Amino acid sequence: MTQEEKNIGKKSAAEKAVEFVKDRMTVGLGSGSTVFFAIKKLGEQVRGGLNIKTVSTSDTTTQLAQSEGIKLTSIDEAGEIDLTIDGADEVDRSFNGIKGGGGALLFEKIVALSSKKNIWIVDSTKLVDKLGKFPLPVEIIPFGYKRVFKLIEEMNLNPVIRKKNDEFYFTDSGNLIFDLHIGEVRDPEDMDKELKLINGVVETGLFINIADVIISGRNNSTEIINK
Ligand code: A5P
Repeated sequence: MTQEEKNIGKKSAAEKAVEFVKDRMTVGLGSGSTVFFAIKKLGEQVRGGLNIKTVSTSDTTTQLAQSEGIKLTSIDEAGEIDLTIDGADEVDRSFNGIKGGGGALLFEKIVALSSKKNIWIVDSTKLVDKLGKFPLPVEIIPFGYKRVFKLIEEMNLNPVIRKKNDEFYFTDSGNLIFDLHIGEVRDPEDMDKELKLINGVVETGLFINIADVIISGRNNSTEIINK
């Protein structure tokens, strides 16, 4: 599938998800190129009178929401979030996924866990039988990162330190990302626990059983998968 075709699928999924947003809701806004379409659509609806508050998961999302005139609140002021719309890098049919390709996994997971309902929007190519082909992002404290790198290497998980323009990539929280080239994650829950036991690991991009609804877009049509 070409990038252009994928983008049509992303837009279809994103716009379908926006149909779940109702007046007076507090809505979590994920990050990434699929959520971009959802924020644009929400912006249109807000300008047409929809009254919502939103919680952002990244600086990029905050800027986009602001430019669309969407009301933002902090996660601590928001309390429980009614609905969060987010993208994913890979999703399986057990509602597990890999996120963090764009580096926003930490705030995304906090917002997701604060939400009554999580809708993931993906183009249909992201639905997989087994997670792991997409390198698993893991957020690491910069202090002592070399030790953590070595430990993950010893687990045969093939970490690569994420870079941007030849410099280390830093998340919105000032942390590093290791991308783990695993190939296949046999047991996502175990892997998540094992990684999080390492001192220096802040969070992993494994989102276990967090999504409630997956909307997969292909061309102009969507498949809604409910848990
Ligand atoms: C951001 O860090 C990610 O978790 C995104 O949700 C994920 O990478 C999906 O991004 P795209 O919608 O850009 O593919």
